[in-house]
Amino acid sequence: MDEATLRGIAAQLARPSGEGAETVAAAMNEVNNAITARAIGTLAPRAGEFIAEIGPGNGALSVPIVDALGDDGRYFGIELSNDMARAAAVTLRAMGTARVDIYNGDCLSAPVSAASLDGLIAVNLLYFIDDLSGLFGQIANWLKPDGRAVFGVRSPEALNAMPFTQYGFRIRPLAEIETALRESGLTNIAAAYHDEGTTRFAEQEIPVDSIVIEARARLATASQK
Ligand SMILES: C[S@@+](CC[C@H](N)C(=O)[O-])C[C@H]1O[C@@H](n2cnc3c(N)ncnc32)[C@H](O)[C@@H]1O
Repeated sequence: MDEATLRGIAAQLARPSGEGAETVAAAMNEVNNAITARAIGTLAPRAGEFIAEIGPGNGALSVPIVDALGDDGRYFGIELSNDMARAAAVTLRAMGTARVDIYNGDCLSAPVSAASLDGLIAVNLLYFIDDLSGLFGQIANWLKPDGRAVFGVRSPEALNAMPFTQYGFRIRPLAEIETALRESGLTNIAAAYHDEGTTRFAEQEIPVDSIVIEARARLATASQK
């Protein structure tokens, strides 16, 4: 595969847009189903909660979140790509359960009130974020006391085996992500690694794995209760 093709794939994964967007979204839904299901299992959304997701893509993998929130819950998707934001709104609103709002823009400028979220999830997003501390600081501010944040990422070994990641992906060791979470004020940080086998890309078998990282906002102090 030539450099232009690999650059094109990397750009589509960072922000699926235009002609190739639907094909990329379908491929992501297939390859990222397992990591997303694990991350959602860790988040464990409950009826009535207010949950935000950054980078839901076309929303197909977010159906179990909206389902779990029930009629009284609220889902807030934050999605940079116009095409993905539009598709996610259609798919998730059609479920007719929780209130679904989609913000089409950058997560660093998303309109979320302080101490409002019960939980936040982002799968395969952190590779596209330059200012990790800025993002985690914002998430710490958005979460209610003891609110949950869950991130799904692939390991550096798996990412480095994917030839397109050399074009713009931020590949970070787990320790760097955990340190940034801790420094943003989040606590109870834990990570679980899962070997997901292999997938075929450009006629090669490449390893697929998942790391699900969880963290919590600090408990309220007596003066905040
Ligand atoms: C690789 S896709 C992952 C989609 C889905 N979560 C999955 O795992 O299949 C990354 C998604 O994050 C979105 N995204 C990238 N940077 C973003 C940002 N700064 N703010 C909001 N969404 C962003 C992209 O548009 C894309 O839909």
